[in-house]
Amino acid sequence: RRKVTVQTIMGMKGKQRVVMVTAYDYPTARLVDQAGIDGILVGDSLGMVVLGFESTLRVALRDMLIHVAAVARAKPKALLIADMPFMTYETGIRDALRNASRLIRAGAEAVKPEGGQEIFDIVNNLVKFGIPVMGHIGLNPQRVLSLGGFKMIGRTEEQAKKLMEDAKALQEAGAFAIVIEMTPASVAKAVTESVKIPTICIGAGPHCDGQILVIHDVLGLTERPPSFAKKYVDLASIIRDAVAKYVSEVRNGEFPSAEYYKD
Ligand code: KIV
Ligand code: NA
Repeated sequence: RRKVTVQTIMGMKGKQRVVMVTAYDYPTARLVDQAGIDGILVGDSLGMVVLGFESTLRVALRDMLIHVAAVARAKPKALLIADMPFMTYETGIRDALRNASRLIRAGAEAVKPEGGQEIFDIVNNLVKFGIPVMGHIGLNPQRVLSLGGFKMIGRTEEQAKKLMEDAKALQEAGAFAIVIEMTPASVAKAVTESVKIPTICIGAGPHCDGQILVIHDVLGLTERPPSFAKKYVDLASIIRDAVAKYVSEVRNGEFPSAEYYKD
């Protein structure tokens, strides 16, 4: 398999669906890469699915750096994208460049800040100085407090129009792809048809150029998964059963049996 670059992803629009998934550690990155994924996102969903926080607002750059470095050590053929945490880019171009470059030095090949027109200058400067950017519009979890919850975006005509403008702004700023999260499928379809760069959807229907899911949702490790996520395996039960078996085998003297030790 050849190394996936941002050019590879851009070239897939209209030809082949782009498939991405999150990963936060070395073994998971190896496995999803071996499964043939196109892009691995070290998402700030890290905060919720791995670190146990209620939202992504608590994730710090140093948390992301540790997990990006771990994923990078798997040397994936997939493109490695890192989320920019809350308030590591909104505060200005200098901060955005400095913080994005730290993610790049940790092994990321692209970064993902949240927002549309309001981050045009930030995205434009990152791209101008060599840092590929994937946009993220629709539901922006980093804005959960002002949104009043994790809600669908784009139901009103005004919101749908804004989504279209945000996508065009990100394309204009130089983004190589755009994540569209939790919008009506019809809105995601219209956005997809109006830009030349691939759209990668999550909870936004089938009409995008690609899909992305959180790996813990795919594997059945999330306590309260979002309704749009498909669980492909119930790893929670598999893990619980395996550990319960280990517990009982140690307690009843079955483990370690002869093959697991030497006299
Ligand atoms: O943090 C994350 O996992 C994400 C994806 C859901 C797109 O931003
Ligand atoms: Na995110």
